[in-house]
Amino acid sequence: MRRGLAAGNWKMNGTGASLSEIEALKAAHPDPSVEILICPPATLVERMSAVAKGSAVAVGGQDCHAAEAGAHTGDISAAMLTDAGATHVILGHSERRADHGETDANVRAKTEAALMGGLVAVVCLGESLDEREGGKTLDVIGTQLAGSLPDAITGANTVIAYEPIWAIGTGKIPTIEQIAEVHDFIRAELVKRYGAEGEAIRVLYGGSVKPSNAAEIFAVENVDGALVGGASLTAQDFSPIITALENA
Ligand code: PGA
Repeated sequence: MRRGLAAGNWKMNGTGASLSEIEALKAAHPDPSVEILICPPATLVERMSAVAKGSAVAVGGQDCHAAEAGAHTGDISAAMLTDAGATHVILGHSERRADHGETDANVRAKTEAALMGGLVAVVCLGESLDEREGGKTLDVIGTQLAGSLPDAITGANTVIAYEPIWAIGTGKIPTIEQIAEVHDFIRAELVKRYGAEGEAIRVLYGGSVKPSNAAEIFAVENVDGALVGGASLTAQDFSPIITALENA
């Protein structure tokens, strides 16, 4: 059985004042049956880790560099995230792929660095609207999956997030059948490549997940949780999503 994971991606949002949301999540979910993860901007990782200490809320980064250290202005390494208290890192988010030109090969190298550094990698994949409308979704996802993942991953150290780019921050979501089709495809590809371990790797759905649609998404087989942007910024929105996953 795969344990559910409710993950929040704060993107470039949040300052010290936002840490009260973590206090509220801790109070609302003292002993959840699923894992809870919040990935704040790098400036908040250490402070959030201190606030979350001893609770069920894990803290992650939103990116890390593929190198261990060196002349890379503005970047952070896996070891720096670990040192600040992070246990996870999001890699290959479509906004990083678009804004920073990250390729599948970059994402794979970053994933290797994250695993070496002892972090759980949350590797993101997803098709554009053009690719969806052109009937290329499964081809695109297959290519990203093959190129972005290292050869030796496990259910304990890697999570996949399927996030159709056109559903991110738009309020549009795929139909339940479309979500099921892609998640079943990813599961089959993972089992083909990693054998039994492919059954243990969690596959999250991301893109406009909200309290109002979470339960029907979590009812889909092979959806093991969600990566949530906008609705993870407040405990008021994120808490019912966590509860929906516990009840799935
Ligand atoms: P959204 O973002 O929930 O705001 O659509 C999801 C994501 O980008 O991870």
